Amino acid sequence: MATGTMGYETCAMATFLSLLLVSSLTLSAAQMSPASLTGSAGPYTVRIACGSSVETYDPNGYVWQKDWGFTGGSSAPLTFPNPKAPQIITLRYFSKFDGPENCYNITVPTGRYLIRLFFAFGEQDNAGREPQFDVSIEGTLVHNMDSGWSKERENFQDSLAFVSDGAATICFHSSGHGNPVVASIEVLQILDDAYKIADQESRSYIWKTMKRVSAGARKSGFGSDFLADPWGGDRYWESDNSLFLPGSIVQSISTVQNISNAAVTPNIYPMDIFQSATTTDPMQSLSYILPVDNNRLYSIWIYLAEISPFVVRPRDRVFDVLVNEEKIFSEVDIIAQAHRPFKALILNATVMVDDASSLELTFNPLFGPVAVNAFEIYELVPIEAPTLKTDMWAMQLLKQSLRLPATYGWNGDPCVPLAHIWFGVDCRFNNSATSWFIDGLYLDAQGVRGVLGEEIGLLSGLQILNISHNTLQGSIPQSMGNLSSLVVLDLSYNQLNSSIPVNLGNLPHLRKLFLNDNQLSGEVPSSLGASALRGAIRNVSNNEGLCGVGLRPCSQANSGGKAVRITAFVVSLVIVLTAGLVFLYWKKRANMARAQKLARGAPYAKARTTFVRDVQMARTMFTDHFRPAHIRDPAFAPIPSQSSTLLGST
Ligand SMILES: *[C@@H]1O[C@H](CO)[C@@H](O)[C@H](O)[C@H]1NC(C)=O
Ligand SMILES: *[C@@H]1O[C@H](CO)[C@@H](O)[C@H](O)[C@H]1NC(C)=O
Ligand SMILES: *[C@@H]1O[C@H](CO)[C@@H](O)[C@H](O)[C@H]1NC(C)=O
Ligand SMILES: *[C@@H]1O[C@H](CO)[C@@H](O)[C@H](O)[C@H]1NC(C)=O
Ligand SMILES: *[C@@H]1O[C@H](CO)[C@@H](O)[C@H](O)[C@H]1NC(C)=O
Ligand SMILES: *[C@@H]1O[C@H](CO)[C@@H](O)[C@H](O)[C@H]1NC(C)=O
Ligand SMILES: *[C@@H]1O[C@H](CO)[C@@H](O)[C@H](O)[C@H]1NC(C)=O
Ligand SMILES: *[C@@H]1O[C@H](CO)[C@@H](O)[C@H](O)[C@H]1NC(C)=O
Repeated sequence: MATGTMGYETCAMATFLSLLLVSSLTLSAAQMSPASLTGSAGPYTVRIACGSSVETYDPNGYVWQKDWGFTGGSSAPLTFPNPKAPQIITLRYFSKFDGPENCYNITVPTGRYLIRLFFAFGEQDNAGREPQFDVSIEGTLVHNMDSGWSKERENFQDSLAFVSDGAATICFHSSGHGNPVVASIEVLQILDDAYKIADQESRSYIWKTMKRVSAGARKSGFGSDFLADPWGGDRYWESDNSLFLPGSIVQSISTVQNISNAAVTPNIYPMDIFQSATTTDPMQSLSYILPVDNNRLYSIWIYLAEISPFVVRPRDRVFDVLVNEEKIFSEVDIIAQAHRPFKALILNATVMVDDASSLELTFNPLFGPVAVNAFEIYELVPIEAPTLKTDMWAMQLLKQSLRLPATYGWNGDPCVPLAHIWFGVDCRFNNSATSWFIDGLYLDAQGVRGVLGEEIGLLSGLQILNISHNTLQGSIPQSMGNLSSLVVLDLSYNQLNSSIPVNLGNLPHLRKLFLNDNQLSGEVPSSLGASALRGAIRNVSNNEGLCGVGLRPCSQANSGGKAVRITAFVVSLVIVLTAGLVFLYWKKRANMARAQKLARGAPYAKARTTFVRDVQMARTMFTDHFRPAHIRDPAFAPIPSQSSTLLGST
């Protein structure tokens, strides 16, 4: 039995370099416009040279755009070549100052894409140590760059994903072991129904490529190296010649004859992968072993074409195909099933790997030797449902209004991937809406210095909000009264300086309301008194300007806040001045009267009476409108005393 191990080969780099040399010598002219191979418009493609400030071309003539669409990070030199684009000399890395989540948001039309990332490291921050991090695509955690990734294969990863929201979002999630890093990103459109397994099925998963092998091929290569149709997504086909242990009894066979049905839609394979095969001696089985995670779903694709001159009739070559000893295809007979040699036969099966740490793909002979031309193994990663659009929108606005520093990350989707929820955010799943929503926000004691924007009112499922012990400025948003699910609201120990929104007291589920130690002013809405009756705990103490329920009584002028206080001040000033003028006038009149008294006597009493009534009328008028606090104002005292003096003097 011949066994190939997939995953730890070391000579891949050499293969690549020789491959690149060959392709750059032989393909430069032919490859300038690969799209011309199909009559119709080419697929939508984006190729980004991460960290690069200039646009470059690779040996195949593809454009590599300068770096765009990212949320943070820095550029650093690339220390070993990108097999796809050797001209690229930079990478992008995300340090702790960029926060734990950083994303590329790459605008693309709705469709299905092969997304290939090339990883490298070596920038100063990582000091030559391999960083560990996770990569998500469209909110779904796809690639775990765990310890040892840089020793495996070619250091690039690809997957197939649907993008229907206007942009391919690729996020790099720090796990605290070095700086996440990426050297290049390719987003290559493929046909919507490529790798269709059942209606809608393929859309429910991100297809993570585990292995894509062209068996018996002399060299590994990309689709473009085989002049493949660009709608095939420029897939990389790895030769299995380095996968077998020394001493394995395997042979390679190949042909130059055309293979029919290879480049058919929707998958559109390069013909080359069918033009070679790995075979064994008669009655020898052939196995490929791939380390995998258990309890995952895998989609296995087997590509066969009879190319041997010695196998010409049905039953000359018959074999079973097994995955971990479970038969996935029985009695495969290429000639019988494809009806003739040199015609492609494509088989696919979806299997669950329950409790094994590896996936063993075995070809077991029944008649003659086995032969395999190519195969692919995909892990089907279930799509993680996104966060509710309005919540996502609100969080992006909050990030700005709260002026959160970059170290928070807060990029991509707040709730997914679930393994990397944004700092300070709690999420809950809504089954009927099949989306996540934010039910808790904990930014207590985080040095938040911004304002709490009205957009907070969009988080309709928010139950707990704690932004206490910061230096929040400005007002408590009116929209908070719309957060009908709110149970806990803690904005204590900040510098909020508004009044308390009246509708806060109407929140039906509010149990805890802490607004103490701010600079709030005005009257505590009476509705909050009512909420206290429903058993809610509240603390509004240590707010200089606050009065009402449970605090000092609101002196009447205070009820309307600052504006009223100013008005009241002006009014009292006017009254004092008026009183002063009246007093002077009276004094003048009194002097005159005293002079006249000697002459006329009685009529003076009448005039005095009129004067006193005028003063009283003026006071009554102000009282009705303002119910002024300055009743107690010492500035007001002289007037009645003047009056009584006056009256008393009669
Ligand atoms: C990503 O790009 C799309 C399309 O250009 C845009 O609508 C969306 O707002 C962007 N998202 C972020 C987080 O920048
Ligand atoms: C393969 O097909 C192409 C046209 O599709 C033809 O030009 C070529 O000669 C064929 N090769 C062989 C070996 O038959
Ligand atoms: C994959 O296999 C399923 C059933 O085994 C079949 O219905 C489907 O057509 C196959 N897909 C392709 C693209 O061959
Ligand atoms: C869940 O979504 C449904 C439908 O969009 C909505 O009516 C309901 O209020 C949501 N439930 C919660 C708890 O947010
Ligand atoms: C809010 O956070 C502060 C500081 O971390 C904590 O002391 C307080 O108990 C929290 N408030 C509530 C209502 O849990
Ligand atoms: C509240 O504070 C903000 C910012 O510190 C300031 O611009 C605003 O005038 C203050 N408002 C009141 C009513 O004091
Ligand atoms: C509260 O919600 C209603 C209905 O969604 C909306 O019309 C109103 O503008 C919101 N209030 C605030 C202050 O945001
Ligand atoms: C309210 O907050 C103050 C601190 O500002 C604290 O001293 C007091 O005990 C709190 N009252 C209640 C009822 O928790």
